Amino acid sequence: MIESAENKRILESPCRPEFKQPAPVIFGSGAIAELGGRVKALNCRRVMVIYDEGIKKFGIAKKVTDALSSQGVDYIEYDRVVSDPPCSVVNEAGELALKNGVDCLIGVGGGSSMDTAKAVAIYLLDPVPVEKYILNPPPFVDTKTPVILVPTTAGTGSECTTVAIISRPELNVKWSAFVNTSLAIVDPTLTCTLPKDITANTGLDALSHAAEAMTVNQWNYHSDLFGEAAIKKVWDNLYTAWSEPENLAARTEMALAANWAGLAFNNPVTHIGHAMSDAFGCHFHTAHGHGCALALPVALEVAAPAVPEKIKVIAGAIGLTTTGRETSEQLGLLVADEIRKLMHKVELKPLASLGVTREEVAALAQDVVENHLSDYCPVAVTAEVARNALTRVYDTFK
Ligand SMILES: [Fe+2]
Repeated sequence: MIESAENKRILESPCRPEFKQPAPVIFGSGAIAELGGRVKALNCRRVMVIYDEGIKKFGIAKKVTDALSSQGVDYIEYDRVVSDPPCSVVNEAGELALKNGVDCLIGVGGGSSMDTAKAVAIYLLDPVPVEKYILNPPPFVDTKTPVILVPTTAGTGSECTTVAIISRPELNVKWSAFVNTSLAIVDPTLTCTLPKDITANTGLDALSHAAEAMTVNQWNYHSDLFGEAAIKKVWDNLYTAWSEPENLAARTEMALAANWAGLAFNNPVTHIGHAMSDAFGCHFHTAHGHGCALALPVALEVAAPAVPEKIKVIAGAIGLTTTGRETSEQLGLLVADEIRKLMHKVELKPLASLGVTREEVAALAQDVVENHLSDYCPVAVTAEVARNALTRVYDTFK
């Protein structure tokens, strides 16, 4: 092998070689019509459709149940999902599924509904309160009940990840469990009724998945590919989807971007941005995507000194021209400022506007340090790093 600096860098890179895609994805306008046939192909007799009240309000639940009825599939509905679903929601839905002999779960909605469906599959495997799992998360639970995921936002990417995030509000923490899933049906027409604030939060969440996945300490080539492509699509389409909610072309591009970003972060996961978002969600009750969006620019500033070549790729994906003479810190600042411009354009709410003080934000440092996602940050997340990052989130976006 030729001895060169580039070859040495490749040999010593902490690239994580494995790239997994958990389940097939059916993508396209009208794809929801395939749902009933796909359930039958799995030989399932009674399904439970899991969603929240917004899904019913916007007529999406009916589109889903129509797709089941048209194929003669028997179903029941659970419509009590709340955002950041607690264990109690999973246990309640699980008990209902058990009582009704459900043999297939369909999560319809944002991350909360899809994560609830995944966690209910754990309950059906072993019908005891899921606190048992969530407190001691195993690396993976091999559930037996097929789980079909139908996203109605373009952000979470939960349809193509194995992770279920469930909260324990009494402890102010969120926990993860990992399960197998069976199928994702991504139909962009289901996102056209999304309110503007959710379009902004979730779209920027997708951006954070892609950018954080590319800058973790154990990256992989496939995730970089999906991540860069997802960033370009979010950059080119989020504002249009936000300002013209019924623009199906922009919604389609965003749905694709969110899906690709989900594929990107299924393996190398995310890092300090999501750790900060978890803390904001637990203590200030910010929506997951809102917190991730707020934290993203600073997450990239933190990572930049360790992974400048990745920050350069992200800079290119968001249309920045660099001279090649920037320091790694300068690159991080440039990319972060550009992302903040998009955050302002889609009217993302700053932390201060929620009545939160700078001191309260700084006090979350220990939460961030202890969050397992911080272990994937390419820079060690000490209490000082976490405190500085948190206060920069507060100070730099007002
Ligand atoms: Fe996220």
